[in-house]
Amino acid sequence: MAAVLPTRRDNPFDPPPDLADEERPLRRLAFPDGHTGWLVTGYALARAVLADVRFSSRLELRRQVVRRTETDEIRPGKPAPPGFFIAMDPPDHTRYRRLLTGQFTVRRMNQLRPRVEQIVDEHLDAMERTGPPTDLVSAFALPIPSLVICELLGVPYADRQRFQHDSAVLLSLDATVEDANAALASLTGYLAGLVERKRREPADDLLSGLIEGGELTGDELVGVAMLLLIAGHETTANMLGLGTFALLTHPDQADDLRSGRVDEDKAVEELLRWLSVIQFGTTRTAAEDVELGGEVIRAGESVAISVPAANRDPERFAEPGSLDLGADAHGHLAFGHGVHQCLGQQLARIEMRVAYGALFRRFPALRLAVPPQEVPLRDDMSIYGVHSLPVEW
Ligand code: HEM
Repeated sequence: MAAVLPTRRDNPFDPPPDLADEERPLRRLAFPDGHTGWLVTGYALARAVLADVRFSSRLELRRQVVRRTETDEIRPGKPAPPGFFIAMDPPDHTRYRRLLTGQFTVRRMNQLRPRVEQIVDEHLDAMERTGPPTDLVSAFALPIPSLVICELLGVPYADRQRFQHDSAVLLSLDATVEDANAALASLTGYLAGLVERKRREPADDLLSGLIEGGELTGDELVGVAMLLLIAGHETTANMLGLGTFALLTHPDQADDLRSGRVDEDKAVEELLRWLSVIQFGTTRTAAEDVELGGEVIRAGESVAISVPAANRDPERFAEPGSLDLGADAHGHLAFGHGVHQCLGQQLARIEMRVAYGALFRRFPALRLAVPPQEVPLRDDMSIYGVHSLPVEW
């Protein structure tokens, strides 16, 4: 009989112990709606599925792999809203992706770096002013990605509080369906207004760039902006929160990072691999019968790809279970693979490279303010991490 996805962890950093089975990198999985699909835990098979567009990303075919709160507008079983291309297949996906890639240029990313540094410094200054103890999630890990997305989209300063408030509710842990729906409606309204403003007064930001291209409708622009917000905010925030927790419990490695003994870029890749915050992975649905790993996946069957298990596959990574900031983690699947591979990965890397280093250099004595077992974990959220991280220095 197919089992449900294991979600119970033994410790904060390792995936659930019975998630991976080296003998069976592909096995049957019971989905919450009663469907029997598949679970991929091996690295090679995970890459193969993600690279194969016969495994569809369309939202209307998708199933939840664990039960979680969703909004009425964006949820599996319903077609993706205009612009929400993470849940579309080629050629629809290709059209948006091409337009967006044209906006995520090296030039724009380089322009954002000094702003990221400034945002990080401002938050470190504020921590210094208020003094210890503080919650690193609300003081640092959450606001930084949110403000960086404001920079990217060109959200004016005066609007940032409203924008941050709505997006915080939409992405919050314990929002009810009603609250999530209301926040989605409010943000949609805000973004529609922003698009109109950018039409009248274009600036050097992503939305203005897309408007200037003239290929997307107002609804599509709103959908794209919403996707960037949803995909780019909690992911990066939880990497910052959980990554800091990991470094605080591995003080030798934090020292190596602070003193420059390990390369910051490499360290970020290893943290991405080891932590794999997309804890339930991503899901695809076979659009036709496909042979995979000696099995036939029938058309209509769903396949859950476990990113955490694939990133700990001993066939691919030496010592996959230990955190070693100097190790070679390249090729990890934390940003996915194939046509949907994370569009924002260069930006996320800039944020992490700047933030971890600056935090540990500013507060060399940074430490947990509670015993590690008291740090509340996001076991039940699709993006894993810590709810809060009390620290002192
Ligand atoms: C550490 C932070 C991040 C992680 C771990 C992450 C992870 C991922 C993963 C695994 C996917 C592929 C999903 C799939 O195949 O179904 C993805 C896609 C995507 N991500 Fe990220 N992401 C991060 C940050 C960001 C940021 C900062 C942005 C934008 C500013 C962003 C925007 C997107 C978009 C737009 C897609 C959809 C791409 C497509 O469908 O072509 N992400 N991300």
